[in-house]
Amino acid sequence: MDYSINTKRSKRLFDRAQKVLPGGISHNVRYTSPYPIYIKEAYGGKFCDVDGNEFIDYWDGHTGLILGHNPPEIVKALKRAVSKGTHWGLVNQSEVELAELVCEIVPCAEMVRFCCSGTEATMYAVRLARAFTGKKVILKAEGGWHGGNPDLSLAVTPPYDMEESMGLLPEITKYTKAFPVNNLDAVKKLVDENRNDFAGIIIEPFVFSGGSVACKPEFLRGIREITRETGTVLIFDEVITGFRLAPGGGQEYYGIKPDLCTLGKNLCAGLPCGAVAGRRDIMGLASPQHSSVKNEKVFIGGGTYSANPLSMIAGKTALKIYRDRKEQIYPVLEKRAERLRKGMETALRDCGVNASARGISSLFVVLFPYDPGAEISNALDVFTKTDMFKNMEFQFRMLNHGVYLVHGGGVLCTEHTEADVDKTIEAAALAAKEMV
Ligand SMILES: Cc1ncc(COP(=O)(O)O)c(C=O)c1O
Repeated sequence: MDYSINTKRSKRLFDRAQKVLPGGISHNVRYTSPYPIYIKEAYGGKFCDVDGNEFIDYWDGHTGLILGHNPPEIVKALKRAVSKGTHWGLVNQSEVELAELVCEIVPCAEMVRFCCSGTEATMYAVRLARAFTGKKVILKAEGGWHGGNPDLSLAVTPPYDMEESMGLLPEITKYTKAFPVNNLDAVKKLVDENRNDFAGIIIEPFVFSGGSVACKPEFLRGIREITRETGTVLIFDEVITGFRLAPGGGQEYYGIKPDLCTLGKNLCAGLPCGAVAGRRDIMGLASPQHSSVKNEKVFIGGGTYSANPLSMIAGKTALKIYRDRKEQIYPVLEKRAERLRKGMETALRDCGVNASARGISSLFVVLFPYDPGAEISNALDVFTKTDMFKNMEFQFRMLNHGVYLVHGGGVLCTEHTEADVDKTIEAAALAAKEMV
């Protein structure tokens, strides 16, 4: 398609949006140059924009819709629930049932606290780790994105040791330090340097925003050992990987149990949510009955909409599907994603474009290394050894061929068909011809 000719309504909406929304958007990642396309409706693995163009949707609601858009069972459950109240602000049965399901399915979960977003969840997890250990320094992966949580807001692009925004306290860089993923020596060095004040490590098992880099199992085992030996807290940020790599998330996929994890996105199948889950002795600190002394409990109690009935009902319906149809969901998606990765890479390389399609399970990204043999194992490698302009060009060209990607990649959902994969590989071949 010719972008400027076929997206005129989107252009008009963006012109209006810029007058009333800073940058015309409500989430930075939703901006694309020269202007984003405006969605009209979504179904299965696709969406349609306001100009009537249809796209295969690999953004999948920020990766949070592994069952696709509008799964019938969830829509049915929500329709039944909506007339009984959209927001109660009171404890409810579905909240208990969803927490029970999380504890059954997610290996580290002995207790759960629901909140309204992944950002809140990572904020509370870090607070719990600091309170439990009585220490301040948290280590995070370079390029790792944990939401707008100020405690972890180091830059996601180099230099990684700076705060990512104006308006943040400079103390962040004193108490939050970043390490390159898959480099255990770098982690050990930081632990040594901060030995007296080390509270724990937060990491995504698959660092999605920092270039879509998978953690190596031996690296995750290494940081598990370090945190166990030092009596500190290992937090897996499973806002993306939770219920996506396996029903029990990255911790099930890799067979490594953290002390705490954060959840969101697929937890409530497209409805707003977040959660912290983990060890009873750590989570228990959040109980308002824990102590009447202010400094002996951890306040993680906000969230007008936390455990709202619609999110809880969508969540419990979804978790039963992930658990009961595990075999029909995860191996199928993994196989389909592997065909997609290989197919796109071959299509690009056959046209002379040096591409590397990577990812695990249903996650994928296409990178464009300067040197075909380059090892890419952390965010800085992606930044320095691959052509990120080509990555953006590829994303835009794929959009023009009806395929919606973000960061040059995305995720598969159960509604993406083999025909969608074929169409995406064909689109990659067309994009490749335009790129050489
Ligand atoms: C790994 C990770 N953690 C936390 C968050 C923040 O979640 P939310 O956008 O629900 O605040 C995100 C969001 O993309 C994420 O990818």
